[in-house]
Amino acid sequence: MARDNLQGPLSGKRIVFAFGGGIAAYKACHALRLFVHEGAEVRAAMTAAATRFVTPLTVQALSGGPVLTEVLEPSQEAQYGHLDLVRGADLVVIAPATANLIGAVRAGLGGDAVTTTLLAARCPVLLAPAMNVAMWANEIVQQNVEALRAIGRYHFVGPASGLLADGDVGAGRLAEPEEILEAARSLLAPRDLAGRRLVITAGPTREHLDPVRFLSNPSTGRMGYAVAVAARERGARVTLVTGPVELPAPSGVEVVRVVSAAEMLEATLRVVEGADAFIASAAVADQRPVVRAAQKVKKQPGTEDLLLERTPDILATVSARYSSRQERPVLVGFAAETERVEAHAREKLERKGLDLVVANDVSAPGSGFGTDTNQVLLVAAGGTDRLPLQSKRAVAGAVLDRVVALLGS
Ligand code: CTP
Repeated sequence: MARDNLQGPLSGKRIVFAFGGGIAAYKACHALRLFVHEGAEVRAAMTAAATRFVTPLTVQALSGGPVLTEVLEPSQEAQYGHLDLVRGADLVVIAPATANLIGAVRAGLGGDAVTTTLLAARCPVLLAPAMNVAMWANEIVQQNVEALRAIGRYHFVGPASGLLADGDVGAGRLAEPEEILEAARSLLAPRDLAGRRLVITAGPTREHLDPVRFLSNPSTGRMGYAVAVAARERGARVTLVTGPVELPAPSGVEVVRVVSAAEMLEATLRVVEGADAFIASAAVADQRPVVRAAQKVKKQPGTEDLLLERTPDILATVSARYSSRQERPVLVGFAAETERVEAHAREKLERKGLDLVVANDVSAPGSGFGTDTNQVLLVAAGGTDRLPLQSKRAVAGAVLDRVVALLGS
């Protein structure tokens, strides 16, 4: 069934989303919705207990398809049986995975819609446990988890620690929906950057006039962080050199925090040696005050002059450093333009000696600073690709596809 038309990083992926019977089922609905939003084709199954917490009608409305709740009901089996449900699936997600469900999976039981579906699955399975603190700590539950992990095809996300619905505090909360999605993305990603090292710059820089004032721009760092996370998922070792942003450090990524363009250059040169690719997504401030006052500057009456000088060009410096060497990283730049996007991007490609420029019309709706989506052109020596408006995650995936191709050539 056709759902959201936003092209997402999970477009073309088939997910079976299975609900266990716990209060966290309501939160799992949100996780299911995130998968749909990312473009995945989602099919759902529920245990009888799960249907006591959220109705199959809710899950049907969210997933856009019928929900398997009974294995012994002829009409459901005829329309949407457990074998059909999982045929061709890329991943089964079980949320919430209750103690009972984990035990049944480990024992290989098939007494309901979820466990029978799972017995027929050949793809990876992601379990998101949620239960009472004491149940999670129970040695039988822990042995079941370890036994499933040891098989290799069963993976776990969470549980998180915190205040549980029953009032206890400790480990047992369902992982956040975004974490479940993230874990699924990792399992579904190709490992085509395994053994590679990528250096990525992200975010704005701040060029201080004095301790409390600076020149900067509205970059949020989202594009660069999305590239870093996607590269890590595809197996790369990633160093992210980031200006000041509000995003949390992505897990599994080495993060180097800087403030100014000069610091970003210094940090980049320190880590770029030996990298397979350098992706410069930072919105580096182009000018900085010639003088940085050590103390806060007091305001003066009337107009004031501010003398500016150019900041170092990090990407051009890295490119120049490798210009006479045989082995050099794949060099990717970003271009934010408001007109003649392709021409300006191509000029940048040539002037800075790059392999690829990701060009963005920041004046177009849904593109540029502070949005979740981007519409970009990929400009390379061999030609230009115009990508559709899509999430920054999906753009990151497309950029990395090109990096993989360039690394192979
Ligand atoms: N870049 C950099 N260091 C700078 C400036 C830019 O590394 N001091 C990188 C950016 O990360 C981006 C690319 O260079 O990958 C952008 O090129 P640039 O020529 O700076 O783009 P604009 O600022 O848009 O340039 P112009 O003002 O000339 O259009």
